[in-house]
Amino acid sequence: MRVGVVGGGIRGGMFARALQEDAAAEVVAICDRSAPVCESAARALGVPGYADVAEMLAAHPELTAAVIATPDFAHREAAVQCARAGLDLMIEKPLATGTDDAEAIAAAAGEAGVRVMVGFENRWNIRFASARELLGSAAESRVTAQIVHLNDTIHVPTRMLSWAGLSSPAWFLMPHTLDLACWIGRTRPVAVYAVGARTVLPEAGVDTWDRVTALFTMADGSHVSLNSSWILPESMPAVFDFRYEIQTASELVHIDGSNNGVLRYDADGAHWPQYGVHEHGGRIEGVPIDMVRDFVRLVRGEDVDVPGLADGLLITEAIAAVHTSLETGRVVEIAD
Ligand SMILES: NC(=O)c1ccc[n+]([C@@H]2O[C@H](COP(=O)([O-])OP(=O)(O)OC[C@H]3O[C@@H](n4cnc5c(N)ncnc54)[C@H](O)[C@@H]3O)[C@@H](O)[C@H]2O)c1
Repeated sequence: MRVGVVGGGIRGGMFARALQEDAAAEVVAICDRSAPVCESAARALGVPGYADVAEMLAAHPELTAAVIATPDFAHREAAVQCARAGLDLMIEKPLATGTDDAEAIAAAAGEAGVRVMVGFENRWNIRFASARELLGSAAESRVTAQIVHLNDTIHVPTRMLSWAGLSSPAWFLMPHTLDLACWIGRTRPVAVYAVGARTVLPEAGVDTWDRVTALFTMADGSHVSLNSSWILPESMPAVFDFRYEIQTASELVHIDGSNNGVLRYDADGAHWPQYGVHEHGGRIEGVPIDMVRDFVRLVRGEDVDVPGLADGLLITEAIAAVHTSLETGRVVEIAD
């Protein structure tokens, strides 16, 4: 498996390193349109760097797979070009930030006959995977309601992501929680009503929503309430706040996704160290690393259960419906 990584930022750099540490994969090239990011990622990985995807594909006909880790709104062009070149794809969540883009990716992948995995990494988080198992198989799923908070501190849209104004808390955070809700509840959304506010971030020069609350009706009659803020105070003990509640007629499951059980105090306050990605024996390990290793297995033809194009298309359509509801104040149906 010979991989080109498109987007050498936080996620692309991490996936490239994980793939280099996987004996079954070889990172052949990296591509990033920012010259400083491209140069530093290429140096760190010891592979050639390219400013654009077409250039990378022309220089490396030996590529067999690509990881697409460009910003939320910039997956289409890279994914379509790589699919047309016959590469199997792992595309970061969300598949795209519009149904046209998502469908264009799906069409290109379908015509080329390549495999596509979408990076809904929380399916690899044992907390959520075990909750899903606890709640039973498709035939007996008893979930009636899922109430989920996935928030970031204001650090994320103002300092971590240079492109936050072209995304939103719904596009950046809800793909994680909505995909989990569909996966855990073994169902899909059919309609959504959403409300939100946009004051703090626009005033800070980031033209997007501060927070969004979306109430989904699911195909099995259950309900999913997703809450995502991008303006929590930076004094929070972690950069994100993840609380997940599942109700059945007789059970309640609470999952805390941000408190890993270690609370550290220092002069700046209290902190929850995060172990989502960590070093062990000189290698990186963790939830997104397990995910990219399953992408390697998928490409090698192994039978792995991973989120694919249908999941990516559904989540993009549903989050687009969230934004339509925010703009119109109406309930929006989500087509089958
Ligand atoms: N940061 C996180 O915690 C996180 C977690 C899960 C998923 N994601 C997803 O991963 C994706 C990437 O996020 P990130 O945090 O790594 O962003 P980032 O800004 O750190 O990196 C994105 C990189 O893509 C480059 N780029 C932009 N357009 C390009 C193009 N057309 N061709 C090549 N390079 C291009 C940018 O220069 C940048 O270096 C997003 O879809 C995001 O939602 C991020």
